[in-house]
Amino acid sequence: MAKFTLGKPEGEAGKAWPAIIIGLFVALGGVLFGYDTGTISGILEMEYWVDEMKTDPIGITTGQQSLIVSILSAGTFLGALAAAPIADMIGRRLGLIISTGLVFNLGVVLQTVSIEQDLFIAGRFFAGLGVGLVSALIPMYQSETAPKWIRGTIIGAYQLSITIGLFLAAIVNNGTQGRDDSGSYRIPVAIQFAWSLILVSGLIILPETPRYLIKQGKDEKAAIALGRLRRLDPHDPAIEEELVEVRANYRYEMSIGKASYKDCFRGTVRKRLITGCLLQALQQLSGVNFIFYYGTQYFKRAGFQDPFIIQVITNSVNVASTFPGLYLVEKMGRRGLLLFGAIGMAVSQFIVAIVGTVAGTSDLPAQRAAIAFVCIYIFFFAASWGPVAWVVTGELFPLKARAKCLSFTTASNWLFNWAIAYSTPYLVDPGDNNADLGSKVFFIWGSFCAIAIVFTYAMIYETKGLTLEQVDELYGIVGKAWRSQEFRPAVRWADIDDKEEGGRKRSLAEITADQERLRSVVSQSAGNEKV
Ligand code: BGC
Repeated sequence: MAKFTLGKPEGEAGKAWPAIIIGLFVALGGVLFGYDTGTISGILEMEYWVDEMKTDPIGITTGQQSLIVSILSAGTFLGALAAAPIADMIGRRLGLIISTGLVFNLGVVLQTVSIEQDLFIAGRFFAGLGVGLVSALIPMYQSETAPKWIRGTIIGAYQLSITIGLFLAAIVNNGTQGRDDSGSYRIPVAIQFAWSLILVSGLIILPETPRYLIKQGKDEKAAIALGRLRRLDPHDPAIEEELVEVRANYRYEMSIGKASYKDCFRGTVRKRLITGCLLQALQQLSGVNFIFYYGTQYFKRAGFQDPFIIQVITNSVNVASTFPGLYLVEKMGRRGLLLFGAIGMAVSQFIVAIVGTVAGTSDLPAQRAAIAFVCIYIFFFAASWGPVAWVVTGELFPLKARAKCLSFTTASNWLFNWAIAYSTPYLVDPGDNNADLGSKVFFIWGSFCAIAIVFTYAMIYETKGLTLEQVDELYGIVGKAWRSQEFRPAVRWADIDDKEEGGRKRSLAEITADQERLRSVVSQSAGNEKV
């Protein structure tokens, strides 16, 4: 019978629960991400806020609206890029504390106290900067602390928090929108202090990641940090053994290329970087934020007049469907789940496109069928590409380049997030300068989902159950993504010596072959001795 639970593999020393709880706690940062991106659509509709902020008698102009919405994305994009130097210089944990406690909170303060547009816009920029930083630092912290057998579920919990943040934003906005005082927008904005306060308070007592400490050459501290995560004495042989592998892998990676930005574009790191950036770009191009940013208008045409009901429907499906994703990411693996999700998303988007286009706006039953398929699309997204894009990018890169590459892949997500938010009205709406696509826009999303199927098949390696160091070995040895499921880790990084053969560095495949040969000689002679 198939096993339906995720369990700690036998023989793993120490406890897994402290690292699991820490990973899940840090995932809370996703609430910042989801809430902050979700709250603005409601605020823009609040009468009190419009009266207070408008500089034109007719209200907030289109240009101002677009600036207020998109300035957040400018901030998140820059924040994601800035995450790399910060994470490498001051560490993952301190980086998170400063991004949340200072940068993000500064943005929240400015928005809360503002009674005119400029300050509000400045606040949106800083809050965005904070969210961008946090969105790259969280998967980094989680991947470097989580036990390998449940790493996907833990990083996936970050996505769950994003969906909960989006949901909370819809609820809080709805609760305050009718107020005729500044509480209408100040309450939803200021509530964000609560999320950041909880996160920062926890981070103050949490350990730095052992891998970052090894990278800094602070081996003693790395042992203490790993000891805290596994509830073992820092001098326990299991701790030493794990750190020896991390250190040896790091040294090996450094011996084949340095850790500069240029080195992110060399060897297998380049392949991984392209994979990660495309993965995040396709996550956005699958059309998810078309639904979260502009879905209201679309649903209204199908007869749902109350925007609140619409947001509750889409957000509930989004939150609930993330749970199967958290389980499936460890059962089906990253590659299988992304393939399954891309197929489901492509089919649903094409059905919405065809039904929406053929039926016309007055055919309510057909429009409702289209809405049902929008919800099915959200199910597939939330159960697969939503969490797995963050899981895969979190575990894809070697330690020396992890911060830099992860900041690039996260920036790619924000860049496409912005591009879609910005261009969608021009694509969908009628008007002289617009493409007037209407429901046909779903053909675009469906086509990108179809590309996502091919992309997953050709480029996504299965990384389930591997340590981050074994992921390096996987990329060093397996040339084709579709062969990656056959891979079994064989290298012991600690046994690699730095000697060069005939003035040439041995490839990872040669090293593996040598180590395997050695192991079989040792076991044969052990067998002979027994005889
Ligand atoms: C995406 C966001 C999206 C959210 C929806 C995240 O993984 O990066 O852009 O709004 O999922 O749940």
